[in-house]
Amino acid sequence: MKKDNYHVLDSTFAQSLTNIIAAELNQNIIICDHHGIIIAAFDRKRISQVHEGAANMLYSGNIREFSISPADEKRLKNVRRGYDVPIVVEGRCIGVIGVTGEPEEVAPYARLAARFVQATLESNSRQQKLVQALKEKEELQSILLYKIIDVQEEERKKISRELHDEISQSLTSIIVGLRVLSEQVCGSKEQKFVLEMRDVVSKTLDNAHRLAVELRPALLDDLGLVAAAQRYIENYSRQYGITTDINFSGLSRERFRPEIEITLYRILQETLTNIAKHAQAANVKVSLKKTRREIHFSITDDGIGFTPKSLRTACENSSLGIYGMRERVALLAGKFTIQSSEGAGTTVTVVIPLQDTRDNTISSNQ
Ligand SMILES: Nc1ncnc2c1ncn2[C@@H]1O[C@H](COP(=O)(O)OP(=O)(O)OP(=O)(O)O)[C@@H](O)[C@H]1O
Ligand SMILES: [Mg+2]
Repeated sequence: MKKDNYHVLDSTFAQSLTNIIAAELNQNIIICDHHGIIIAAFDRKRISQVHEGAANMLYSGNIREFSISPADEKRLKNVRRGYDVPIVVEGRCIGVIGVTGEPEEVAPYARLAARFVQATLESNSRQQKLVQALKEKEELQSILLYKIIDVQEEERKKISRELHDEISQSLTSIIVGLRVLSEQVCGSKEQKFVLEMRDVVSKTLDNAHRLAVELRPALLDDLGLVAAAQRYIENYSRQYGITTDINFSGLSRERFRPEIEITLYRILQETLTNIAKHAQAANVKVSLKKTRREIHFSITDDGIGFTPKSLRTACENSSLGIYGMRERVALLAGKFTIQSSEGAGTTVTVVIPLQDTRDNTISSNQ
């Protein structure tokens, strides 16, 4: 059968049906297309001939069963005595099936054969529609997910900028004000209090700065993935006391499409957070390579590892980290793998094609 054209009879399909039906019924059988051309026949010499009986019936517009008498056999071209039945699928006549023999004897066989062809085509049609509907649903889901991630990233960027530009500036003014005040108050007790206040505000400023960077580092937009990742890994190493080995294969000036950069950055964040939370690792290796067609990104730790069972338990407990990474990579038509065994560490590997393989619907919806 042709893939997307279930209401047009495919000749290979028709020939297999002819062979099966002819063997089952022990009768000579032909199948014509919607023009009356024989596209399958038990007697293969007849293939490609115009069956004048079928053609006349189809062109008359009066779709009906008909018999071929010995007189018709003489009068019309390429017909044999027998009985012919139109094949109607979803209200459209897509061909004719004919069985050779005494018309009244073979009529039930011809009808049976036509019903069989109809049922097979209708079932194929239903199946194709279901597959199509499923495909459309999956595409829609991807578009929605893409949108959600996009909106979320925009929102993070906005909050990060707000934290940096508004809150950090105000906190800095307060710190300066408190320092000036500390110099003006007389009593040492009051001065100590003001300085303590200044330290609290200073810590709050640090936290606001960290939060802004975590939400969306300006470095990622300004200088790209490599610079932002390097900074993130250095801070991480300092914060958690984990030794990190970075191999970015001389890609320091390289820029990738924004959606690739943000995806890999979020994967770095989630994977390193997982290592700090679960792995008890001492060493982490981060590697980024570019080939002609792909980007290869991997993060390996030497921690305690985990089993598929603990991953299942985590999923049942609504853990979203690994699931989210997988979804993000799938949206860029990439491959996400995670290898781990107990006591032997964990490696997360991501391969993303450099070429934008998403269709226009998704690109134009960004
Ligand atoms: N590097 C790692 N070493 C050891 N175990 C890990 C590592 N990464 C993930 N895991 C295991 O896989 C589970 C699932 O990780 P995932 O990131 O999906 O969820 P989570 O970190 O538990 O929660 P969430 O990310 O939603 O805050 C974790 O609970 C942990 O058991
Ligand atoms: Mg996690």
